[in-house]
Amino acid sequence: MILTAATTDLFAFDEAGLDHLASTHTSPFFAYDLATARERFTRLRAVLPPRVRLAYAVKSNPGLPLLEAFAAQGAWFDCASAGEVSTALAAGATGPGMVFAGPAKTERDLQAALFAGARVQVDGIEDVARLHRLHTGDRPLPVNVRINPAGGVSEVATIIGGAGPSAFGVDEEVMEDFVAEAAHYDRVEIRGLQVFSASNELDAGRLLGNHRTALRIGRRLQELVGRELDLIDLGGGLGIRYALSEATLDIRAVSAGLGRILTEHDWFTGELILEPGRWLSGPTGVYAARVVRTKTSRGERFVMLEGGINHLLRPLLTGQSFPTLAVRPGEGVLGGETSAATLAGPLCTSLDRVGSGDLPTDLRPGDVVVFGQAGAYAYTQAMSHFLSHALPEQHWIG
Ligand SMILES: Cc1ncc(COP(=O)(O)O)c(C=O)c1O
Repeated sequence: MILTAATTDLFAFDEAGLDHLASTHTSPFFAYDLATARERFTRLRAVLPPRVRLAYAVKSNPGLPLLEAFAAQGAWFDCASAGEVSTALAAGATGPGMVFAGPAKTERDLQAALFAGARVQVDGIEDVARLHRLHTGDRPLPVNVRINPAGGVSEVATIIGGAGPSAFGVDEEVMEDFVAEAAHYDRVEIRGLQVFSASNELDAGRLLGNHRTALRIGRRLQELVGRELDLIDLGGGLGIRYALSEATLDIRAVSAGLGRILTEHDWFTGELILEPGRWLSGPTGVYAARVVRTKTSRGERFVMLEGGINHLLRPLLTGQSFPTLAVRPGEGVLGGETSAATLAGPLCTSLDRVGSGDLPTDLRPGDVVVFGQAGAYAYTQAMSHFLSHALPEQHWIG
């Protein structure tokens, strides 16, 4: 694939930039463009209604330079562990600008969240009981409760979990019982809601349908707790395309829809939170790995790379490949005839597949395969220590 205006949003760098990176950096490596990160945050912030907060989902990419870039633009942060809280604090996050979520929060996690002044999204009565014990302030601690909609959330691939059983949150069917039980813990006060919307959603209408469900649940929750909710967290799920054939999420349509939802639900006077991870960080990064050898086995073309699921696990988990192209260091992005290839890594397991791609037929050892959209759910999601290969370097540019 040669980069054209139509494909540039799949790769954070242009052809000259990719060739420069491949020629001057020891691979395998990740490279991130901070200008892209800043541009995406600004663009999303600019279209959203003022009552919608943006909390960057740290899990998608916890790189400190990225968090610093978002913090400088006033981002909130969505953290899910004590480690993420300390990275967000190091990046300059301030307490009221942090939310904390997770299905199995330990006391250490909760203490870190309390220390940072984060709004905790409780997942069950145990969280409430622990916070009741740990909270030392004079006034009750405001918390959000995560609710699983009775009808599930609408998603293309089941990642959040559809309408079935869930390890997360409180099922909507037992919300009333939960609120009654939580009322026994008077040092904790339910003031908000979290309903997770979707994962990698490209259809604004489907996303907004889930957001409407959240507001419907919020109205009921407000009645049950008998006090005004001040935050409704809609989770993440803003999607990015991993192939040219996929649509691009219309963020203007999402924003306009959120504006309409706020008008329709005038009982709610607080703020909405969106927690995008992938949409903000995915397009900032590329992963590059050198071709070690190529082979054909029983009719299937393999490209064997120096990095595999120890660096990029997502294709194996989701069945979706990253977009790829090939660079010959010093000569640039390779054009010419391509054919389909399975991308395999160096690990001694047939699980070590990093997707597939159309790659030049004259690809040879020393060429570098570049994976686009690799700024999210990549470096920290991989099986980094399996087989003790070196960790890839991370380069932050701009
Ligand atoms: C609580 C929470 N918020 C936000 C996100 C980010 O989602 P995305 O990267 O799809 O925007 C996730 C992802 O798993 C999550 O669990």
